[in-house]
Amino acid sequence: MGMIVNKSYIKRHRKGFVICHWLNAVSFFMLFLTALPLYIPSFGDFYRAVGPYYFQVLHRAFGVLYLATPVIGLFIARNGYKRLITEATHFTKEDIEFQKKFPPELIGGQPDLPKQGFYNGGEKMNILLQAALWVVLAVTGVILWFGVDWSPVLRTWAIPIHSIAAGVGFAAALGHAYLAFVVNPDSVHGMKDGTVKAAYALHHHESWVDELVRDGKVTREEVEAAAKH
Ligand code: HEM
Repeated sequence: MGMIVNKSYIKRHRKGFVICHWLNAVSFFMLFLTALPLYIPSFGDFYRAVGPYYFQVLHRAFGVLYLATPVIGLFIARNGYKRLITEATHFTKEDIEFQKKFPPELIGGQPDLPKQGFYNGGEKMNILLQAALWVVLAVTGVILWFGVDWSPVLRTWAIPIHSIAAGVGFAAALGHAYLAFVVNPDSVHGMKDGTVKAAYALHHHESWVDELVRDGKVTREEVEAAAKH
């Protein structure tokens, strides 16, 4: 099957991986929303009016979905997760250079960036951060869920750690959504149907294109023709 789709797009993510990304994103935002009233005093009346019980049940339900997502991924997106882990645990010289030169792009600049692989140096940091937070949130979340019967000390520690991890994770997710929607809107196509513009692939992930060419999946000429289309 060809890599080029609709003349100007190239296959990037499989459907299962796209589904897992959105399960993760939706559960994460819902976890944030259902916990928010606990941290914002002005939401207190609303929280009490609806009933804290409902927020708690929803928070636990989305917590289960958030924790289950990578497990679901083992079945429906094994390749995508394998790539995610392999990439995020291998930082190249170009990734470090990217991290140093990237900041101006955040505010609309066009820095001269080195060629990037399937994931760039920033995406790799995002993967590692969210994976680490997943572990911290899982452990402290389970302690908060069942810990009343285990140990009050453990539970007392779990509260601030869970809150801080959630705060850091949400700030990073907001930055991530900004990078996707505002800075690189072309990337969002890949999270809709799994394909991205060939021009975007060449510009942002040229080493990945080189890899596809090396593996005989597509020719450089095909990608360049699609990028011009
Ligand atoms: C509206 C919200 C979101 C949008 C628009 C969005 C968009 C995207 C896009 C376009 C990619 C693919 C990038 C590529 O092909 O290179 C991606 C990947 C990813 N997303 Fe999201 N995302 C959102 C929410 C989230 C949330 C809440 C999390 C985690 C808590 C998350 C974690 C990830 C991770 C770990 C990856 C792979 C690495 C990366 O590209 O940073 N995303 N996202």
